[in-house]
Amino acid sequence: MSRVNSGKISNGQSHAPADQTGGEPSHRQSHRSIVGILIPPGQLVSSSLFRGRVTESVSVPMNPGMAILEMFHQAVGQFVPATELRRVLKESGGKVTTEIAELERLGYTIESHPHFGYRLLGGPDRLTADDIKARFKAGVIGAEILVFEETASTNDVVDHLGKSGAREGLVVFAESQTKGRGRLGRAWASPRRKGLWFSVLLRPKLASSAASRLTVAASVAVARTIRQRCGVNARIKWPNDVMVNGRKLAGILVETKSGAAPRSSGPVDYLILGIGIDVNCVAADFPPAVAEIATSIRIETGRDQDRLALAADLLKALDESYQMALTDFEAVADEWARLCSTLGGQIAVTLGRRRVEGFAQALDADGALLLRKDNGQIERILGGELAVERA
Ligand code: BTN
Repeated sequence: MSRVNSGKISNGQSHAPADQTGGEPSHRQSHRSIVGILIPPGQLVSSSLFRGRVTESVSVPMNPGMAILEMFHQAVGQFVPATELRRVLKESGGKVTTEIAELERLGYTIESHPHFGYRLLGGPDRLTADDIKARFKAGVIGAEILVFEETASTNDVVDHLGKSGAREGLVVFAESQTKGRGRLGRAWASPRRKGLWFSVLLRPKLASSAASRLTVAASVAVARTIRQRCGVNARIKWPNDVMVNGRKLAGILVETKSGAAPRSSGPVDYLILGIGIDVNCVAADFPPAVAEIATSIRIETGRDQDRLALAADLLKALDESYQMALTDFEAVADEWARLCSTLGGQIAVTLGRRRVEGFAQALDADGALLLRKDNGQIERILGGELAVERA
C-alpha cells in the first residue's frame, strides 16, 4: 500500500493543469504521470517536480515556496531581507507574505522583522521533495525526488519505475515501509518518520560483476556523511553495514537488474541502491531480534537529528561517490579502507553453507573483498550472500 503525504510546498499556483500537479490527491484524478509512467491515484506523495509532468522536468521553474526555502537554507539561520525574497519571487511568480504564510501553514516557524526581513527558525520533521531539494544542488542523484508516506519497499517502487524507463538518479523516500527488506531475505524495520528509508535508481555503464563497486561507494558516502554531520564514529563493516560502537546504524541493499543471466558478467540494465538509516529511532522501535545489535544516530548522540538536512547531505555525497566509483574507483576504495573496520583483520565469511576464514586484505577493482586464507591462497569474495564476523 502506498499513501500520500500532503506536506508539499505549494500555494496552488500551478504551472500545469490541476490534474498533473501532484498536489493533494483528488477523486477527480484517475492517474498521474510521473517519469512518463501512470501511477495509480493516491500513490505519489511529494515530487520536486509536482508542477508538471516529470518528463518536462528540465524546463519546470522552481516554485515560490521552494525558492524561499532555498534562500532560508543558504542563510543558515540568518535573516534574509524582504527585498531579496521579493527579487527571487519575481522570477517564480509568488508574493512574499502569501508564500511565508503558506510555509507557516505547512509547519515552518518563521520570524519576521520590520528591518531585517525573515528568518527560518524551524521546520516540520517531515520529508518533502521540495525541502530536500532546496538544501543542495543536485547532480545526477536527486535531480528528481519522490516521497511516499508509506510504501511496501522503496526498492520495489524504484524497480517499477526503472523498468518503465525512469531516468537515472531518481530517488524515492518513504516515511515508513511495510515490507522493507535487507540482505539475505531479512526484514528491515522502517518505523514512521524515525529514519531515512530510500532507494536510488542508477544506470551505470558497468558489468554486473563490478556492481559491488557501488555498494562500496554508497557505504563510503553514508559513513562519511554521518560522521561529518552528526559527529558519530561511523565505520563500515564489509560488505554493506555502517556501524557505531559495534552496533548497526545503517544498511545498504544493492539489487542489480540486467537482461543477462544471473551471475553473468553482462552489462547492468539498471541498479537499485536501497539505503536504510536509523536516524531518530529509540530502543523500543527495534524489533526484539535486532534490539541487541542495532542503534540509531539519536541513541548515539543523545539528541534528535534533522532528517531533511541529513538526507540532502547524503544525496550530495552519494552523487560524488557514485561519479568517483565510475571514474576513479581506487580513490573510493582508499577512503573505504580508511573507514572500514573489517580490513586488516582475521575474519570468517559464510557463503551459503561454506565458511571461509582468512585475513581481509583489500578490495579489488570490482569492489570484491580479497581474503588471504591460511594456506596463502587469495579468495575473491563478492558481496551479496555473506555474513561476516571476526574470526
Ligand atoms: C541490510 O542491511 O541488510 C540492507 C538494508 C536496506 C534497507 C533499505 S530501506 C530502503 C530500501 N528499501 C528496502 O526495502 N530496503 C532498503
